[in-house]
Amino acid sequence: MLSAGDVQIRVAPDEREEEPERDRREDCDGRGVLSRREATPSPGRGRGLIEGGSSARGKGQRSVWTGGGRPGEYASALPGPFRVSGSVPPGFAATARMTLPLIDLHAQHASIRDDLDAAIARVLAHGRFIQGPEVAQFEEAFAAYCNVGSCIGTSNGTAAFELVLRAGGIGPGDEVITTPMTFIATVEPIVLAGARPVLVDVDPQTALIHADAVEAAVTPQTAAIMPVHLYGQAVDLAAFRSLADRHKLFLLEDAAQAHGAAWRGRRAGSVGDAATFSFFPGKNLGALGDAGCVTTNDEDLARRVRKLRDHGRMDKYRHDEVGTNARLDTLQAAVLAAKLPHLEQWNERRRQHAAAYDAAFANVDGADPLRVEPDAVSVYHQYVIRVANDRDGARAALAERDISSGVHYPVPLHRQPALEGIARGEYPAAEALADEVLSLPIFPELTAAQRTAVVEAVASFVGAPAVGAPGL
Ligand SMILES: Cc1ncc(COP(=O)(O)O)c(C=O)c1O
Repeated sequence: MLSAGDVQIRVAPDEREEEPERDRREDCDGRGVLSRREATPSPGRGRGLIEGGSSARGKGQRSVWTGGGRPGEYASALPGPFRVSGSVPPGFAATARMTLPLIDLHAQHASIRDDLDAAIARVLAHGRFIQGPEVAQFEEAFAAYCNVGSCIGTSNGTAAFELVLRAGGIGPGDEVITTPMTFIATVEPIVLAGARPVLVDVDPQTALIHADAVEAAVTPQTAAIMPVHLYGQAVDLAAFRSLADRHKLFLLEDAAQAHGAAWRGRRAGSVGDAATFSFFPGKNLGALGDAGCVTTNDEDLARRVRKLRDHGRMDKYRHDEVGTNARLDTLQAAVLAAKLPHLEQWNERRRQHAAAYDAAFANVDGADPLRVEPDAVSVYHQYVIRVANDRDGARAALAERDISSGVHYPVPLHRQPALEGIARGEYPAAEALADEVLSLPIFPELTAAQRTAVVEAVASFVGAPAVGAPGL
């Protein structure tokens, strides 16, 4: 039986003895990682780089990596699918672990390192760090990718929401209908705008809200509806569009997890009156820090969002209205522009991994993948199964084998202390999902052996044989 998944090379600057951000916190995006690993101090300048040595592997659990290649490069000494490699920048030290992460950004960045370096170097050379040319270039490219008229880069996805609600005139007295099964950033901007979030329960098989449930919650106060393309699966955009048109409601898509997703050929972000994306590092298209955007086909709305994100400015010291500072950094735009050409291929790899997982879990009673509708093209931001019997035990069993997992989300919004008195109600499907969902490692560079290790760990926990399952 395979045990651990991969060698993960962790690279930390010599002066900082800390773990990469994504390993330290549980957050909105699956960046929630459960692993029994603790931080390993960086061994100091130069150490951990390849100096000629071997990887010692204790009981398939731990890799004490001592190198084995040319100086300045890293590579695991493990064979075949467990092997990873890349180059360690000067001044960095690397340590190796056998942790299979939920998402491996090191592998992604190593694969396009030259493009990233060149993009960053270009920004350093021209020095226009605020509103530099890369911002408009990326906006144009991402609008074309989404097949939408305008893209307006923002400092993050939450800010994108705030801007679009303001530009859409949503405020006090208004109700906005959305889902309890999402990250809190979906409703924070509603509350901050002075409007009231109204939650409707989700489909237990997809974790998405349906247009008919939303329609049943429409009141004369309803101003906007805000479906979330959760885990990378687009909601039924045709049904939501027609609902919004019938009731004259503002349709705002939360596409934070759905770069490239589609419903019947229409891309997420192109059907609503507006949509917001997050480019948080762990997203399918991620920056090297916070970033986000608004997409829309409404030119007036686009103009207003553009103005609001930059202090309500007309020109440098003429301010039409009170805005804010929520601009997309030039450096982040340059990084996103360098990554965008790879997004289709990365999403396709995720779909292949998901199809293989689906086939394997079809033989595993007690571990049920969420359903993807036939009309939806998912980009599998997360690959999520339901473990009805002791999900947290399954997580611990994975962690025992050094396989990271996540829970999105353990506390539905109507149970969040921050929303006490704001969003309360009975949402049994969301509650059941919160108890049972388990996000498994998925990222383009995942290997078949790693998938096998994941399926075997889950199968052995739920007591089902997975060996020889098709798709592995
Ligand atoms: C569904 C959803 N909506 C909104 C956001 C907010 O995006 P950001 O973290 O860029 O502010 C996130 C977080 O990533 C998210 O997962």
